[in-house]
Amino acid sequence: MKHYKTLEALPDIKGKTVLLRVDLNVPVQHKKVSDLTRIKRLKPTINSLIAKGANILILSHFGRPKGHESQELSLSFLPPLLSEVWGHDVGFKEKTSQITLLENTRFHAGEEKNDPELAKQWASMADIYVNDAFSVSHRAHASTEAITHFLPSYAGHLMDQEIQMLTAALEKPQKPVTALVGGSKISTKIGLLGNLIKKVDVLILGGAMANTFIAAEGYDVGKSLCEHDMLETARNIMKQAKENNCTIILPKDCVVAERFEPHAEHTIVSISEIPAHTMALDLGPQSMEQIKSIIDQSKTLLWNGPLGAFETLPFDHATVELAQYVAQKTKDKEIISIAGGGDTVSALAHSGVKNKFTYVSSAGGAFLEWIEGKDLPGIKALSLQQST
Ligand code: 3PG
Repeated sequence: MKHYKTLEALPDIKGKTVLLRVDLNVPVQHKKVSDLTRIKRLKPTINSLIAKGANILILSHFGRPKGHESQELSLSFLPPLLSEVWGHDVGFKEKTSQITLLENTRFHAGEEKNDPELAKQWASMADIYVNDAFSVSHRAHASTEAITHFLPSYAGHLMDQEIQMLTAALEKPQKPVTALVGGSKISTKIGLLGNLIKKVDVLILGGAMANTFIAAEGYDVGKSLCEHDMLETARNIMKQAKENNCTIILPKDCVVAERFEPHAEHTIVSISEIPAHTMALDLGPQSMEQIKSIIDQSKTLLWNGPLGAFETLPFDHATVELAQYVAQKTKDKEIISIAGGGDTVSALAHSGVKNKFTYVSSAGGAFLEWIEGKDLPGIKALSLQQST
């Protein structure tokens, strides 16, 4: 059962003004938006509201200006692109069309303080509030939390879709469910690993964080990236996994090199034989075979984090091969594949399969906090409204 109201529950909003919180914190390279995913995924909500005859005032943050105005972090560059992608004219600050983009919410000091006065000011401009920014729902900010105390509040289509898909992956998944977690540090993912071992049948570890687990098992990892002060934590996670009947899979072999640079000379070794002067940069073929056979037996796969140093070729091999393997199984309807988190999305894009998973979340930090099992304030605020 949904604990929040969706757009289907909207009253007649013809001629009314909707304050729509979205996440236009998009990646920009050389002054151009390098990935349109977040913008494209807002189209269903924009179309719905336009079709219902509402005027839309858009709120979004961009970067971290910390309460100060800065030309560099102004949203003024976006309206032409938004108009093009959404197929509706978008004005900036001044109401010149049905959709108006307001300036960066974080130019206001009150935004990150969840200031009710700022929220009230925004609320006074509209009749209804819609939150379609799942990817910022882990922040209790004036435009995501306080605002819901002043306007009838609804979840947009993207917000609803993210919640539905992540719930399907973690709360009521088709079993067996496997999580594949990579990335560089366990210190940033302790909460995530701690929650996953309670929910999934198999947890496969890759990326540099696996080195810490390998070292915790007593192996020498040479010059590999490894958090030597986290060995006890890694052992604890392995112990808890056992208590929760979750099987943790560590790499069997890896690709090592003496230097971390593109096309460095490399070789494949077992994890028990990592030479002292080398570092593990990718998974080896035996690890890959093992992971593939686990994926073959799984009905749901949750993926977060690259499996090797994928940005430095050829150490993208395991990530690309497994991403493509999962994409094919997804196409063959043999697995439900859900992925998310900043680096993961670029790793899947690099592998050419970003649109070939069952669902790829548009969120980074919010996705991780969801997987950690935390309450996300932006979603909680929508849910509280529902019950009052
Ligand atoms: C994101 O890009 O993950 C969101 O927009 C949140 O941004 P923040 O980490 O600056 O709050």
